[in-house]
Amino acid sequence: MIGHPVRHSLSPVIHNAAFAAVGLDWVYLAFDVAPGEAAAALDGVRSLGVEGLNVTMPHKAAVAAAVDELTPTAAALGAVNCVVRDGRRLVGHNTDGGGFLDALELETGFVAEGSRCAVVGAGGAARAVVRALAEAGAAAVGVANRTPEKAAATAELACGVGSVVVPDELGGFDLVVNATSVGMKGTPGAGQVPFDPSVLQAGQIVADIVYEPTDTPLVVAARRRGVVAVHGVGMLVHQAARSFELWTGHAAPVAEVRAAVERALLGDTG
Ligand code: ATR
Repeated sequence: MIGHPVRHSLSPVIHNAAFAAVGLDWVYLAFDVAPGEAAAALDGVRSLGVEGLNVTMPHKAAVAAAVDELTPTAAALGAVNCVVRDGRRLVGHNTDGGGFLDALELETGFVAEGSRCAVVGAGGAARAVVRALAEAGAAAVGVANRTPEKAAATAELACGVGSVVVPDELGGFDLVVNATSVGMKGTPGAGQVPFDPSVLQAGQIVADIVYEPTDTPLVVAARRRGVVAVHGVGMLVHQAARSFELWTGHAAPVAEVRAAVERALLGDTG
């Protein structure tokens, strides 16, 4: 993988556990690549014959511009988190939104098709989730964000069913996703909720993309109101599973990957 910084990434833990679980003699390494160096790093991938890589902040857009081909989803998002090598050709994918939906479907039985969804946030993760929900046939995708102009641009990714909403309207959706970093340990929003949870109604589903702590303030508040709520570990696991399958052609050992993530999170007391 390439990113900046990459020191605290869980991806090496995830993928090395996955390779071991399926008996593949592969290794996953994290490279701290300076801003502006992503295209050069991709040339290195071509020359070295690396099978593929993940891409994280701040390189997702630069890699989208530098690969030879993009999937339709990665092209719409203008962001790549997974590169697959085919000879000297590099294909850019985005597995964040699909991984989010895989996890949500497995953990809650949620069906995106025909449902009314709201996404809070308008950064890279929010954009990927909005696009995935729309591609899966959501009837409506409302986007709420602290900075409304960014919400409008994100809603435009929703294949014609997007709109900008305000937090007071979140009670009217089947699904409410927190796709901001609010609540994430070690950030200014740690310990906080991204919107007032009193707007939530029993029968809704809440999905938080934050995975540390797993009991995020939003997940705890939602469950107190009788709302089904899931945290971000599932998205982390399933975006990785999709990458793993693209590179190796093997089904990802999801249970082992989840166990490795949970061990790593438990061990992280910093
Ligand atoms: P990523 O690409 O990882 O999703 P990002 O591009 O930094 O991250 O986006 C972070 C998102 O969280 C944005 O929607 C941001 O809102 P703004 O567009 O207004 O900046 C949102 N966010 C971060 N901290 C927040 C806070 N304290 N309150 C509300 N929204 C916050």
